[in-house]
Amino acid sequence: MTSVQHSSEPAPAVAFPAGFRWGAATAAYQIEGAAAEDGRGPSIWDTFCRTPGKVLGGDTGDVAVDHYHRFREDVALMAELGLTAYRFSVSWPRVQPSGAGRLNPAGLDFYRRLVDALLEAGIEPWPTLYHWDLPQPLEDAGGWPERDTAHRFADYAGEVHAALGDRVSQWMTINEPWCAAFLGYASGEHAPGRREPAAALRAAHHLMLGHGLAVEAMRARRPQNRFGAAVNLYAVSPATRSEADLDAARRIDGMQNRFFLDPLLRGSYPADVLADLEGHDFDACVRDGDLAVINQRLDQLGVNYYSRFTVAGTPGEATQAATSPFSGHSPWVGSEFVRFVDGGRPVTGMGWEIDETGLHELLMRLHREYPPVALYITENGAGYDETPNGDLPLNDTDRIAYLEAHLRACHDAIAEGVPLRGYFTWSLLDNFEWAWGYSKRFGLVHVDYATQRRVPKESARWYSRVIRQGGLPD
Ligand code: NOJ
Repeated sequence: MTSVQHSSEPAPAVAFPAGFRWGAATAAYQIEGAAAEDGRGPSIWDTFCRTPGKVLGGDTGDVAVDHYHRFREDVALMAELGLTAYRFSVSWPRVQPSGAGRLNPAGLDFYRRLVDALLEAGIEPWPTLYHWDLPQPLEDAGGWPERDTAHRFADYAGEVHAALGDRVSQWMTINEPWCAAFLGYASGEHAPGRREPAAALRAAHHLMLGHGLAVEAMRARRPQNRFGAAVNLYAVSPATRSEADLDAARRIDGMQNRFFLDPLLRGSYPADVLADLEGHDFDACVRDGDLAVINQRLDQLGVNYYSRFTVAGTPGEATQAATSPFSGHSPWVGSEFVRFVDGGRPVTGMGWEIDETGLHELLMRLHREYPPVALYITENGAGYDETPNGDLPLNDTDRIAYLEAHLRACHDAIAEGVPLRGYFTWSLLDNFEWAWGYSKRFGLVHVDYATQRRVPKESARWYSRVIRQGGLPD
């Protein structure tokens, strides 16, 4: 790939390397809608949304932003913005409704048409194979806590790869296994809404195993394709230098970051985290050879980054660590003596503290402490409760400031030698924000949910200029 910088544009002061991917990201359940069309089967999110009290306002992804029917319009929007890459997810229940066996040709065909439209527009497709919409029949059989689900996932991944691998070369397996495992099976704030800490740990292991098995299956067919996974990492700070606070930071960094990075990149679970988890019967699900499967070569690691956590220890006094506003339960298995504290930074509309230094810190740490791997920011963005008072385009200055600060952090990391090869903002369009329903908007493009009209926000224009110039002004 050549530089995306157009010759008519002035050279930016903060220039990104030639070939840097400029992208935006979405996920199937959050945008597609058409939940019961053309043979799609139900996923755990369809079931969860129908369970009273689980999703704000009783919202569902039944219609979402109707991308299934409007994908051509959406690809045209991407082209207008000048995106060079687009990260989307493939809906497993659309492609394989019962999660095993029979494929749904109409489902696969949708992704063929989407990929063709992207390629025609000169946009590189970046599919993610699992962005949380497990086919319901697999959950009925036990879900991710069951080892068999990892094998089902690898089979499904192989089928999608067989269908699209001739025109798609960048593949991401799983998205944010921490969320899928711990929000889904420990705090229950995400589908399937279970509150079983030991099952959540097994789910985490099987998600990672599913990743490894899927890469094996796909790489055997087309070794020239590139494979990776996207993990959600946080910068973590202790509230003070006290021993208890330092230990709290070690634990949360352990469960959030190292519990996924270490097996993926080093082939082992961190010993201190295993010690924290004693009594949760985790070891029993890890079989001989699993870590080698998980630890096979990664062509790229996707980093989803939003915020920093500040944590304090509460020795002797068990607390609900970072209790979910939805379930009242904590996802933090093994960290009962930790409290999340206010770090004193401005927050987005999600209440998440804004700290681009955390992104720089994480990138530098990945570079220094782990074996070399190409990195991509596969998600970064800011959600707000934006209600335009009839005035469009929406002037989302806070989002622009957020994106700009984080892109500068990326640039600094690249200048210091980090092999960061691309950036995907979350998200292209306003969409279904899981337990928050449609109440939070992350899009560069505003969507009127009543009419499905799309209008690019000021942030979209801003990002488009950044892409055209290949970087940021001073
Ligand atoms: C993480 C998830 O991958 C995505 O689905 C979600 O909408 C964003 N972050 C914002 O919460």
